[in-house]
Amino acid sequence: MADTYLRLAQIMTPNDANVLGKVFGGSILALIDLTASAVSSKYAGTVCVTAAFDRVDFHQPVEIGELVELDGHVSYVGRTSIEVTIDVHATRLTTQERRHVNTARVVMVAIRDGSSSPVPRLICETRDEKRQYLAGRLRRELRDQRRAQMADLLEKLNACEEDRLSQLMDSTDPLAEQLWR
Ligand SMILES: CC(C)(COP(=O)(O)OP(=O)(O)OC[C@H]1O[C@@H](n2cnc3c(N)ncnc32)[C@H](O)[C@@H]1OP(=O)(O)O)[C@@H](O)C(=O)NCCC(=O)NCCS
Repeated sequence: MADTYLRLAQIMTPNDANVLGKVFGGSILALIDLTASAVSSKYAGTVCVTAAFDRVDFHQPVEIGELVELDGHVSYVGRTSIEVTIDVHATRLTTQERRHVNTARVVMVAIRDGSSSPVPRLICETRDEKRQYLAGRLRRELRDQRRAQMADLLEKLNACEEDRLSQLMDSTDPLAEQLWR
């Protein structure tokens, strides 16, 4: 795992501004995607495509003129997929104040001859590397469970008559529990 780290850095320019004059979230997402692509493709030794953004929360805005640094590494691998964890920091250059902006996880898939292709096993040597790998496996398992549950629940929702939908709209009980009943 330690050998998979890569850093991408960029000063944010007025081209990256949203209407409030802060950095547009999409500009940061594009940098996260580029970092995930570089980390995963170097690791797999072939081009990797973005399958999913696991979750990205923006805790604080990034200002125009700040230096954004993205530190990415492979945190978990499946058969053909690679989870890349990216820590994003922003530095105000005039004061050198550096702060953590977010941590993103992106699932990339290795492609050869147009289809998904096996990736090397990830070697985890330290306690922290093993903890990170197992956390990635948990995310993978929970994502799969959630996708299956969501498909079941949507099937139940789609089968409801309009009266039942009105009843559900009026009720504040947890929706998933009502649909399972
Ligand atoms: C990602 C993609 C290659 C997966 O293709 P697929 O036919 O579903 O491939 P498979 O079923 O063999 O799955 C391959 C791996 O991707 C993972 N995967 C597929 N879709 C996923 C998703 N939405 N979220 C997380 N992982 C996903 C599978 O779990 C599997 O992982 P594993 O091999 O480690 O077990 C395909 O959906 C694709 O090409 N998507 C578009 C990618 C792209 O263009 N991205 C840029 C968008 S502009």
